[in-house]
Amino acid sequence: MLPVEVKAYAKLNLTLDVLGRREDGYHDLRMVMQSVQLCDTVTIEEGAGSTVRVKSNLGFLPGDERNLAAAAALTFFRQTGVEPRPLDITLKKVIPVCAGLGGGSSDAAAVLRAMNEICGTGLSLMQLAQIGQKVGSDVPYCVLGNTALAEGKGEVLTPLPALPRCWAVLCKPDFSVSTPALFGQIDSVRLRCRPDTDGVLKALEAGDLPGVARRLYNVFEDALPERCAAKVDQVKHILIDQGALGAVMSGTGSAVYGLFDREEEAKAAYEELIDLYPETFLTQTV
Ligand code: C5P
Repeated sequence: MLPVEVKAYAKLNLTLDVLGRREDGYHDLRMVMQSVQLCDTVTIEEGAGSTVRVKSNLGFLPGDERNLAAAAALTFFRQTGVEPRPLDITLKKVIPVCAGLGGGSSDAAAVLRAMNEICGTGLSLMQLAQIGQKVGSDVPYCVLGNTALAEGKGEVLTPLPALPRCWAVLCKPDFSVSTPALFGQIDSVRLRCRPDTDGVLKALEAGDLPGVARRLYNVFEDALPERCAAKVDQVKHILIDQGALGAVMSGTGSAVYGLFDREEEAKAAYEELIDLYPETFLTQTV
């Protein structure tokens, strides 16, 4: 059965709203999520050591349980009662890290789906998503993928009609954001506006790509330090000037993306941005 190779797709937040702080210190969220074809590759093999280990093409990522891919395998064993066994997990990272694109969460979700196959546990995607919740708040959505509404901490999932296939240009400006720090910040900032999530749901129902794209909105853009907000705005302006139907920051950033219905415009935006920021990607929605 082993080795097994699986893809781990990046996610975009089409909308991200923070409804309030909860008693457990987390926040209630309401967000529309979308997978794109940009992906990491995750390979799982019999382990040569005594536990689950992770190696990757990025030397600075941890190789133990601090890496969400290892945490996912260990959590799978704990939650299913399957006898733990040593595994070597290899990540070929393409999705930029600390970018709001769900790279680590998607690797973890891919491990959970693969473990379900390897161990023949036959769990449904929703059952795997529940296990994923113990690994990280974005993991349940990444197990499900495609277009979905995520609520609660991120674990209450509703599959949605697929976003009409389009081009996406993703660009990570040259700063990283700490997710816990930005969540801490959001409690004290006055939000300028809230996303029209219901409008996005209606536009998805109607298969209306421009209707979705003009409603892209992320409240975390209001919580960024000024210097970072200026860079996010710079990338958004370039995307819109090149013909994006809409542009917004994903998750807690710092990656910004634009959606395009025309390949030539998406390519032109990609060419302009890659000269400024090397972590720029041209991809398509799933
Ligand atoms: O669940 P995860 O470990 O990915 O969350 C990282 C951090 O993001 C949490 O420690 C918390 O500060 C913040 N968070 C939150 N509310 C959520 C999800 C994450 O406050 N719904």
